[in-house]
Amino acid sequence: MLAVHLISFFFSKLKEDPTKKVDRFLHAMRLQDEQLVDISNRFLAEMKKGLSAESLAAAAVKMLPTHVRSTPDGSEKGQFVALDLGGSKFKVLRVKVREDEGINKGGVEMEEKTYPIPKELHEGRAVELFDHVSESLKDFLLEKNMSPEKKHPLAFTFSFPCEHPGLDQGLLLSWCKNYKVRGLQGKDVVQFLRQAIDRTGDMDVDVLAVVNDTVATMMTCGFDDQCCEVGLIIGTGTNACYMEELRHIDMVQGDEGRMCVNTEWGAFGDDGALHDFITDFDRDVDAASLNPGKQTFEKMVSGMYLGELVRLVVLKMAKLGLLFDGHVSDALRTKGKITTADVAAMEEYRNGLKNTKEILTHLHLTPSPDDCVAVQHVSTIVSFRSSNLVAAGLVAILTRIRQNRNLRGLRITVGVDGTVYKTHPQYPKRLHKVVRRLLPDCHVRFVLSECGSSKGAALVAAVAQRLTSQRRKVDEALSLFTLNEEKLQLVKSRMREGLEAGLKSKGCTIKMLPSFVYHTPDGTERGKYLALDLGGTNFRAMLVRFKRQKTRLYHKIYTIPLEIMQGTGEELFDHLAQCVCDFLDYMGLKNVRLPAGFTFSFPCQQSDIDTGTLVSWTKGFKATDCEGEDVVSMLREAIKRRNEFDLDIVALVNDTVGTMMSCAYEDPKCEVGMIAGTGSNLCYMEELRNIEKLEQSNKWGGLGNDRCLEDIITLYDVEVDIHSVNPGKQRFEKLTSGMYLGEIVRQVLLDLTRRGLLFKGHVTETLKTPGIFETKYLSQIESDHLALLQVRSILQQLGLHGTCDDSIIVKEVCGAVSRRAAQMCGAGMAAVVDKIREDRGLERLSITVGVDGALYKLHPHFSQVLKETVGVMAPQCDVTFMPSEEGSGKGAALIAAVVRQKHQMQN
Ligand code: BG6
Ligand code: BG6
Ligand code: GLC
Ligand code: GLC
Repeated sequence: MLAVHLISFFFSKLKEDPTKKVDRFLHAMRLQDEQLVDISNRFLAEMKKGLSAESLAAAAVKMLPTHVRSTPDGSEKGQFVALDLGGSKFKVLRVKVREDEGINKGGVEMEEKTYPIPKELHEGRAVELFDHVSESLKDFLLEKNMSPEKKHPLAFTFSFPCEHPGLDQGLLLSWCKNYKVRGLQGKDVVQFLRQAIDRTGDMDVDVLAVVNDTVATMMTCGFDDQCCEVGLIIGTGTNACYMEELRHIDMVQGDEGRMCVNTEWGAFGDDGALHDFITDFDRDVDAASLNPGKQTFEKMVSGMYLGELVRLVVLKMAKLGLLFDGHVSDALRTKGKITTADVAAMEEYRNGLKNTKEILTHLHLTPSPDDCVAVQHVSTIVSFRSSNLVAAGLVAILTRIRQNRNLRGLRITVGVDGTVYKTHPQYPKRLHKVVRRLLPDCHVRFVLSECGSSKGAALVAAVAQRLTSQRRKVDEALSLFTLNEEKLQLVKSRMREGLEAGLKSKGCTIKMLPSFVYHTPDGTERGKYLALDLGGTNFRAMLVRFKRQKTRLYHKIYTIPLEIMQGTGEELFDHLAQCVCDFLDYMGLKNVRLPAGFTFSFPCQQSDIDTGTLVSWTKGFKATDCEGEDVVSMLREAIKRRNEFDLDIVALVNDTVGTMMSCAYEDPKCEVGMIAGTGSNLCYMEELRNIEKLEQSNKWGGLGNDRCLEDIITLYDVEVDIHSVNPGKQRFEKLTSGMYLGEIVRQVLLDLTRRGLLFKGHVTETLKTPGIFETKYLSQIESDHLALLQVRSILQQLGLHGTCDDSIIVKEVCGAVSRRAAQMCGAGMAAVVDKIREDRGLERLSITVGVDGALYKLHPHFSQVLKETVGVMAPQCDVTFMPSEEGSGKGAALIAAVVRQKHQMQN
């Protein structure tokens, strides 16, 4: 007896676990992590192909741009009707979206009705299908008492691959899943829908948007989770979409911001990219489908095919005698007899085996307990392969997003929908686990779209509505900065009138101030000179040594603290003397009495080359007791007070003049000097006969002080002027120079934010802070080489936290403001060079302009726009711009040298 027991125990140990034979039989379907990584990399390559213009035509994975540029931000509102076609059910819905409320707070209300689509319509004519759709819509509107008179905005979820020339157009590329309708391929589905609605009659419907179900799902989930930037469907079909950087999407113009791309990953493998992973069962499923050779990946993954795969495997195993003792029933031979719902039931946690037995019995089979275990295991392998493949695809998408954003880790949410994901008991857990295992650095959250894709489609429609109206308002605000040729002509003629008036009398807005510089240098200058340079971004002390062939320069930069800029005059000049003392110390020249040129970049009334009374402070300086005083004397006194060194200040020079001189040293045609920096100014060599009061250097910054620029000045400029240290003064400068451009930008941003068009309408303390936008930020933000994310991070450094869309608007504002500045300077410059040309009685003038200033040198577009404008506004002048290499200090030293040599010759 004992022996019998032992033998049967021994045999029971020998008898094979039924799952083992299935494992062996289906080993090609059991994908290891390395294989998944391999598949993921292949998909990554396919994505690249589909995005690039060169390889797009041949790409299997279409990567379709959707024109959806932002995920919901909570401000969407309105009531919409929605149509949802292409999944397992056709539905008509009413979606109400209330402002500023998440669904949890009841922000979205939905009512829906499912309308069956008769089988013959799946493979009938397009017109018939759309008539059915529109009649269902009408039935729904009537049932819900939605007035036929009122216009109902409609969002259309259409879950097939479409190209979207716009948000409300969808050109069908091909049918898939269980549809093969004639006469729609290549056509616009929205047009078909509109025509059907017209045929049905008695409805007023405005089709605003057509979206893929993946996109709609991403939007649905994005309403409550702002991190949701991927939409995934594992239902009748399978597909995914994600937010791609616009600059990578060759098919869409523009490179700012993001756009949702519908990958249409179902077609992955259609070009053979998955050939080594395709099994005979996949080939059989494909051959029996409505679209053989197409949607390779989808046929390995989605609900439409999983049951069929299981049936084919079970049939084959039975035929080989590995199941049911080799018995095969007619039902088992029939396509569609095992469904994806059956697969889910067989894998149920407690009742799985019982369900398997029932399902098989229903197929007129007589399964043994081992058969049930084996068939259940077939299901598991087939559905596991599906979730593994989806994981591989998803890993590719997440990797791409992470690479796009230059991040190591990534926190992101994936919105998911589809019957497989929703009803298969193990599927979600398996999928999540594999994704997290393959991407350990990423924090991936999966959110089930609880209420289908229609909410998301309605949100797309709402966003479309909102963006159109926002865009209009932003464009209106920015159009205030647009200068057409007529306006530029006006600036030019006003500048010309200002110059003429300034040459004649004193009380003018453009102070044509004399510089007492009669000669440009001639190259014979020699010796060591000191140059002091106050009025730009920094104070500079410089030693210039003119030798026979070359000039040597040594300099040191000193900042001027705000409290000194705005303290007393004595403090300011004492500070300058201290800086000079430090510099001489540093150069070991404290005991030499050097001749010095003093670049003082503020309006001065000069009565000689080395005396000048400050007319008024500009550019944020307001030290007391200086205006009306001779600044050279003030500097001399400060040096005396310090009593540590001595200087022979021989020339007082404006920076424009210094710039002109230093450039003229290189190019004798340089007869104009221009500064586009903290301030804005210009000087030129005027004919002495025209100067009634011996004046030469222009102060063009003052143009407009007599209100002659009123038709250009915007409400934003008015704000900037009111809050400046010199209201009503330097109106031209306040439109054109670095000191003010940032402030103008800030005023525009403030206004747009107050009107809810930016930063979600949150006016922060940062935004209210004057001076946060320095010119350098403007230059950075407008750089062409900067991705939008970098713009966003610059804004974040400034304490302005916004979305990528906000960054686009900020960049546009900066562009509008700086462009206007460059155009104004161009028109002003045109007035000056044309005057010189006319004064000399020339048909054409060829002239060089020496330029300096941070705006000119560092801003990415200013110099180009300036040049273009001069070209258009002064067509008879050939103007060459020559950036000053060493600042105006070298020019000041040159002037000092010219003056010194003249004195020496006279003595
Ligand atoms: C639904 C969406 O929730 O999910 C459909 O509303 C979508 O638009 C569907 O197609 C995908 O799942 P299934 O299983 O119905 O194809
Ligand atoms: C410098 C000059 O190079 O340019 C200064 O030396 C001048 O004198 C300055 O004021 C203007 O530029 P910014 O941008 O510093 O105001
Ligand atoms: C198919 C369609 C695709 C859709 C998916 C899920 O793959 O081509 O557009 O998103 O099914 O429904
Ligand atoms: C301011 C000053 C002017 C100077 C210009 C550029 O406009 O008034 O003198 O040239 O800034 O720095």
